[in-house]
Formats: sequence, structure tokens, C-alpha cells
Amino acid sequence: MNNSGFSVRRRFLQFLAASPLLTTYDAFAAEVEATLGEQLKDPKDVINVFEMQALAKEKIPYSHWGYLSSGVDSDLTLHANQMGYSRFQIKPRRLVDVEKLDTKVNFLGAAAGSPIFLSPIGSCGAFHKDAETGVARASAAKDTFMIISTQASDSVEQVIAARNGKGLWFQLYSTNVWENTVAMLKRAERAGCSTVCFTIDLPGGRNTETQQLFTRKDTRFCEECHYDGKQKPMFKDLKQSGLVDPKLTWDVIKRMKDVTKMNVMVKGLEAPEDAELAIKAGVDGIIVSNHGGRATDTGHGTIECLPEVVKAVKARVPVMVDGGIRRGTDVFKALALGATAVGIGRPYCWGLGAFGQPGVERVIDLLNRELAICMRGSGTPSLKAINSNYVIDTGHRNPDTLA
Ligand SMILES: Cc1cc2nc3c(=O)[nH]c(=O)nc-3n(C[C@H](O)[C@H](O)[C@H](O)COP(=O)(O)O)c2cc1C
Repeated sequence: MNNSGFSVRRRFLQFLAASPLLTTYDAFAAEVEATLGEQLKDPKDVINVFEMQALAKEKIPYSHWGYLSSGVDSDLTLHANQMGYSRFQIKPRRLVDVEKLDTKVNFLGAAAGSPIFLSPIGSCGAFHKDAETGVARASAAKDTFMIISTQASDSVEQVIAARNGKGLWFQLYSTNVWENTVAMLKRAERAGCSTVCFTIDLPGGRNTETQQLFTRKDTRFCEECHYDGKQKPMFKDLKQSGLVDPKLTWDVIKRMKDVTKMNVMVKGLEAPEDAELAIKAGVDGIIVSNHGGRATDTGHGTIECLPEVVKAVKARVPVMVDGGIRRGTDVFKALALGATAVGIGRPYCWGLGAFGQPGVERVIDLLNRELAICMRGSGTPSLKAINSNYVIDTGHRNPDTLA
């Protein structure tokens, strides 16, 4: 398509983005997908994370795209995460001085200029050669907090160095060899992580069908990279082990606290009953998460779980949430419903896959900008000012509000 054809097309897509004709974000992304890769060379021209998603899909190899985009079974929890946000609507207040905004957070050793954190994603090298080190540079440049995965392609030492020695939490898969768990905790602590986010939502196995469908289309020789005995950096010099230990129960929190000075957060909690057990077990924080819809299918959206968990926690520890956050308004709603901070997963990987480090920076900028607009528009000049009075729970998901 020539340039004038492109600008007509682009105006049409922008019209579609604002139009009630399209009822889901995915439909918008699908429209964008076919045309933009050739035209959008500069991350600054990308207008929202859905465009970034479409670009990333064009650039990431099929099987890796399948890994990134998959949920489990029929991907219903994956969709519930995003759809859950449509249940809540924003109730703005007027004539409040919103000239200056305060979006800083500081808890459990995490100080950042934005409440939007980067959730841990394994194998970022599958999306772009910049991998986690590029994500680290981007997030440090944007004063954004990052959590590195046990399954990261780059080492925790490399990644924290790319953030000038600070601003990193470590996500832990416990493994089924306790000695390995202890070694990982000590290594992350030595590297300078202040908090471990212990992932508890994958006690064993999952059925990633979308991933399998994309892998079928991939004609490359996968064994070249995925061969027996190849280890992720975090597993270097450790005994052979499984990624998780299905036997674990809540007493493991104390065992972890006995061997590390890091704060121990649990990631992957959804039930208020578990929030109470977690606090009794001694956790320092909770991330309401369902692994981005990659753990159990037909689950609830995490934003719908958040209010009950917050109620059970009674402000004893900070509560974060991730899953399905695609707009600044989503961030605002999560904060209003009691989250101290929120995590994004796939969106920053779309930026990474589309452009490497500059794409991650663009995704962070886009969401921060949208959050700032929403805070001003709602009459909330600081994160502290945002509370449940600013959202209405309509009691049902409302897909039309997503277009
Ligand atoms: C490709 C991919 C890999 C992930 N790897 C990890 C991981 O290694 N550890 C973990 O705790 N969560 C992992 N997650 C879950 C994310 O940390 C996060 O909970 C989720 O992506 C949030 O949902 P969102 O992608 O809709 O933003 C992964 C998610 C995706 C999509």
C-alpha cells in the first residue's frame, strides 16, 4: 500500500478503534495486524498496546507467539481477565486541582515512579534478542519496577546490572529439590533483589492448546535451541529437578523466611480464604494473579477477585494484581479496588517482540500516559486519592465497553 493508501487505512483504523462497531480489543488488533508491520517503523507511532500486539505477532516466530499468547484449554480465564475490567465503570469527580500528579510507589523495597510493574515472563529471549536485559534497561529508563522470572533467558546478575544494581524482585518457581530452592533464593538475594515473588498457581502441568496450534505452523528446526540438557541461567550448577513441587503447603513460607532476608510475596492467589492463610503463614505481600490465564481454565478475572482479597487482607500487607491490564483505565480501576500496584505481562513482551528495548519503553509510556489522563479526568491527583468511590461495579461483564 502506498503512503496515501496507508494514511487512509490508518484513519480508518483509528475510526474503528473509537467506534462501537468493534466490540472487542482483539477485533481491533486483528484489523491492524494485516497492514501495519511495513508501515510502523518507529515505536513512537504506535498508539496503543493493541497495535503493539499486532506488530509483535508479525515479528515473533509462530511457536514463540503461541507461547506468549496462549492461555490454557479454551483460553477462557485469559479472556476473563480482560473482560473482567468491563464490569467496572469509572465515576469521575470534577473541579479538583489535578495540575500535578503523584504516581510514585514505595513498598517492600520497590520504589518507582509508576504503580505499573513488569510481571515476570519466562524466556523473553524468545521474543527478541534484547531479552530481559533489554526489558531491564527500558524499565529502568522509565522508572518502572521489574520482576525477573526463574525461567528468564538472562541471568539475574545481568538483569540487575542493567538496572544499575536496583529495582528488581525475583520470581521463584520452588522446584522439587529444596536445596535448589534455597540456592536460588540466596542467589537472588546476593544479586540485590529485595523481594521474592513465590508463584503458587502452577502446582503441576497445564494444557496450552493455543501454543500447540501455533507450534504446528512453525517449520523451523526447534531442536537447535531447545535441546535436552539446555538450562536457563538460574538453574546453572543446580541438581536436576522439576520446576515446581506439587507437595508444598503453606508451611513453606516459614521455611523460605528462615533462609532468606528478602520479603516473601505469594503470586497467584485468588481466594480470600487463601489470603487469610497466607498472612497467617507470614507473607509480606500478595499478588492476585492466575498466571495471565495460564494456570486453571474457566476461572474468574483477577480484577473480579481483587475486592474480596483486599477485604480479607484488611491492609495488613500490600496487595498487587495482574492479568488483562491493557489500558490506563484498567490500572486506575485496579488501584481503586485496593491494589497498591499492578503488573503487566504480555503488553511489554509485545513491545519487546515488535521493537526490542524501545518497544518496551513505548508500552510503558503509553500506559503511564493513559493512567495520567484517567487520573486527571477522574479528579484524583495522587494514587492515595484513588479509592472505591471512583468505580461502579455494574455486577456483570459488559463487552461493549471494551471497544
Ligand atoms: C509467556 C508468559 C510467560 C510467563 N512466565 C511466567 C513466569 O516465569 N513466572 C510467573 O510467575 N509468571 C509468569 N507468567 C505470568 C505473568 O507473570 C503474569 O502473571 C501475566 O502475564 C499477567 O497477565 P497479562 O499477560 O494479561 O498481563 C507468564 C506469562 C506469560 C504470558
